[in-house]
Amino acid sequence: MGPQPELRILITRDEIAAAVSRLVAEVKRDYQGKFPLLLGILKGSFMFMADLIRQLDFPLEVDFVRLSSYGSKKESSGRIKIVQGLYSEVKGRDVLVVEDIVDTGLTVSFFMDYLRKKKPASLKLCALTDKPSRRQVPVAIDYLGFTVPNRFLVGYGLDLNDRFRNLPDICVLEDEG
Ligand code: PRP
Repeated sequence: MGPQPELRILITRDEIAAAVSRLVAEVKRDYQGKFPLLLGILKGSFMFMADLIRQLDFPLEVDFVRLSSYGSKKESSGRIKIVQGLYSEVKGRDVLVVEDIVDTGLTVSFFMDYLRKKKPASLKLCALTDKPSRRQVPVAIDYLGFTVPNRFLVGYGLDLNDRFRNLPDICVLEDEG
């Protein structure tokens, strides 16, 4: 399991809840009555997705894909793999991709391009956090929770080697050498 790294809360659970409520209002305004398909990118987005859709009180569909870019390291490998693919029909649907973090942008950019080829009626992105200082490819975020600094973040779905996803707050690792 390794030593316990020092964590400091960056975004509290209350701040996350307030951001989720704000995003819910925006998504509701744009998607109510459209039976949208919300597509989460696993694993990181599971908690954000769960909180988001619990407040979206209109018909919608939820699905997940599992993409992987980081492997077991802290840095993106730049190579995106579809580990678990998509089963929903995307053609003609109003698709909203749900992500926990946009960092280099490689993951979501790959996935948006992949989806665009399937001819959805519309395609937008909802991200809880955005780390623009790390961007390698341009990404348009339609619904954004927080812009975050260039620190390694864990909690609320975000991990370090698959640990810390269960933390209710978003924390920074204090001992990043
Ligand atoms: C993380 C995160 C995003 C991606 C963002 O996923 O959930 O999907 O990295 O990084 P990028 O903008 O540099 O591509 P990761 O590949 O670590 O998988 P996980 O969600 O299973 O933790």
